Amino acid sequence: QCHRVAVIPGDGIGREVVPEGLRCLQAAAGVHGFMLETVEFGFACAEYWQRHGELLPPDWKDVLGGYDALFFGAVGWPEVVPDHISLWGSLLEIRRGFDQYVNLRPVRLLRGVRSPLRDHGPGDIDFVVVRENTEGEYSRIGGRIFEGTDRETVLQETVLTRIGVDRVLRYAFDLAAARPRRHLTWATKSNGIAVSMPYWDERAAAMAQRYPDVTADKDHIDILAAKFVLRPGQYDVVVAGNLFGDILSDLGPACAGTIGIAPSANINPDRTWPSLFEPVHGSAPDIAGRGIANPVGQIWSGAMLLDHLGEQAAAAGMVAAIEKVLAGRPEVLTPDLGGPGTTESLGKAIAEEIAAG
Ligand code: NAI
Ligand code: MG
Repeated sequence: QCHRVAVIPGDGIGREVVPEGLRCLQAAAGVHGFMLETVEFGFACAEYWQRHGELLPPDWKDVLGGYDALFFGAVGWPEVVPDHISLWGSLLEIRRGFDQYVNLRPVRLLRGVRSPLRDHGPGDIDFVVVRENTEGEYSRIGGRIFEGTDRETVLQETVLTRIGVDRVLRYAFDLAAARPRRHLTWATKSNGIAVSMPYWDERAAAMAQRYPDVTADKDHIDILAAKFVLRPGQYDVVVAGNLFGDILSDLGPACAGTIGIAPSANINPDRTWPSLFEPVHGSAPDIAGRGIANPVGQIWSGAMLLDHLGEQAAAAGMVAAIEKVLAGRPEVLTPDLGGPGTTESLGKAIAEEIAAG
């Protein structure tokens, strides 16, 4: 079997961690007996923008649409391209164009990683944030009136559709039903946001009826954020709309250690289009070019990619290798993990561990 993967390193440390991700993916392919054909693309970065005045080629959907998956580094170089242009012009365009309506972020406290939360050790934190990725608060509908006067007024609309809400809830409930604890929490704020959030609650409650084996409850986003920090162990699957999901999916990984290790997937569950796998972190201009970026977020995203392509054993092998190296090889760890190592030393150690099976 041969999986074809389009690779987009992007900017900054994206270019440094992607090669380590590929090294580990190829190691996994070698051990588990499948082929991985990768093709690299040089768009979605500041250099491309300087040459073409845009982040993606006009035919990007045709160029990327035939691949089995997309492996993405990070985009953003604020000195050259304003951040809202680089994100809306590339990543957000791809997420919407390929209808990647689920943003999935596993949050697990791994052995060898210290949580910033007191009293939490390996195994104590293990949940998944499922974020709606295509609608909600992130709309371009709205505007300003009476600009420049003291009556200046700004409106920004939230868009919820029944299809859009139900499909992400269904994905989250299916996920919860397949996990041992079978628990789901949905994020809301229906006590304050009086139109969209009651609708979200209504659809979630209706979906819960169809999953009698899953215990479901809701938390308002404010207390939910507090409980992520105080009692993260109680969560299993957490589903949220676009805005709350964005916040939770950064807060969650932060509770489980450095942002350098957190993975994410932008999934088109219908498989009409390829899904995109990328670390949670950005291009980190402050450390780019020094070879010290932590490659684990990229490598773990690679494991999610394999899982999506049906290579469950290879995916599990990659995550096990990550844990083993984090816990047992302090001399190869990058500075953010308190080690003296480099992007390459950590990537190579994990690849060797994968190859050792
Ligand atoms: P960032 O995630 O790039 O960096 C935040 C902090 O974490 C920095 O101090 C950085 O050095 C550190 N860090 C991040 N990844 C690391 C790693 N792998 N190893 C060690 N340390 C790491 O977020 P920031 O600074 O807000 O944004 C920088 C640029 O990245 C901006 O242009 C932003 O728009 C873009 N960005 C892109 C994302 C994407 O492509 N999905 C996501 C977030 C930001
Ligand atoms: Mg974010």
